[in-house]
Amino acid sequence: MTLGTRFAASAAASLPSPVTAAGHDAAPTVLEGRGLHKRFGSTDALRGVDLGIRAGEVVAVMGPSGSGKSTLLHCLAGILVPDGGSVRYDGAPIESLGEDARSRLRRTAFGFVFQFGQLVPELTALENVALPLLLNGQKRADAEAAAAGWFPRLGLAGKERRRPGELSGGEGQRVAIARALVTRPGVVFADEPTGALDTLAGEHVMELLTTLAAEERVAVLLVTHEPRVAAYAHREVVVRDGRLSGVGTPDDDARSFQPGSPS
Ligand SMILES: Nc1ncnc2c1ncn2[C@@H]1O[C@H](COP(=O)(O)OP(=O)(O)O)[C@@H](O)[C@H]1O
Ligand SMILES: [Mg+2]
Repeated sequence: MTLGTRFAASAAASLPSPVTAAGHDAAPTVLEGRGLHKRFGSTDALRGVDLGIRAGEVVAVMGPSGSGKSTLLHCLAGILVPDGGSVRYDGAPIESLGEDARSRLRRTAFGFVFQFGQLVPELTALENVALPLLLNGQKRADAEAAAAGWFPRLGLAGKERRRPGELSGGEGQRVAIARALVTRPGVVFADEPTGALDTLAGEHVMELLTTLAAEERVAVLLVTHEPRVAAYAHREVVVRDGRLSGVGTPDDDARSFQPGSPS
């Protein structure tokens, strides 16, 4: 047993399994890439990757730097168009959507957390969380009221009016998590969300992300090269040279998503 799987066994034990409304079968696959290929010039960044994620599931994508993790995340999120293969969200192929429809899908169905929070520095923490709702057409007062409701859950009550420069790195990432979840997306994509944090702040951020994702029934695709961070996931896969090892599609591994079974 590797260090990573040992951490995973203990951390994942406390993570609830995704459950369907019926409560019997495993949750449905919400996002699925099949046969994904992506080439940059002469670099084959992805060479035939299959990866699916169930509603409410947290999947960690591990692998060395340059192996294709971010490219995979960008293809699954509709940020990059793969050169080959297909991505389905809720059963519908997203490559058949035009740029506008894909952008709308990203705004409404997906949330994003990046390594350096990428909060808007001129806006307060509250305004940063409200921003995705404003972009989706909500009235400012409604958007800010919804955003305010997140701060106690983040452990950041009282810090709503601070700007990103007045928050610690970990606090900023917690704000970024709320911004990713505020639209109630189906999937949150997190690319090295703890990469710029010390161990303790990173653990706090991962606990928050996985707890809130479970409460909101949001799937999380987590890219990380740190085993201790991947340990928070239900399932780990590894990308090497654009290929995936580990269990790529949940249907191949029904074990880990039967409610009540140890994952
Ligand atoms: N926009 C790009 N243009 C050219 N090459 C790229 C681009 N994005 C990624 N690559 C290359 O594709 C490979 C995979 O990159 P990436 O997915 O960022 O890896 P990881 O996230 O695992 O570090 C690397 O060789 C990288 O240099
Ligand atoms: Mg990367």
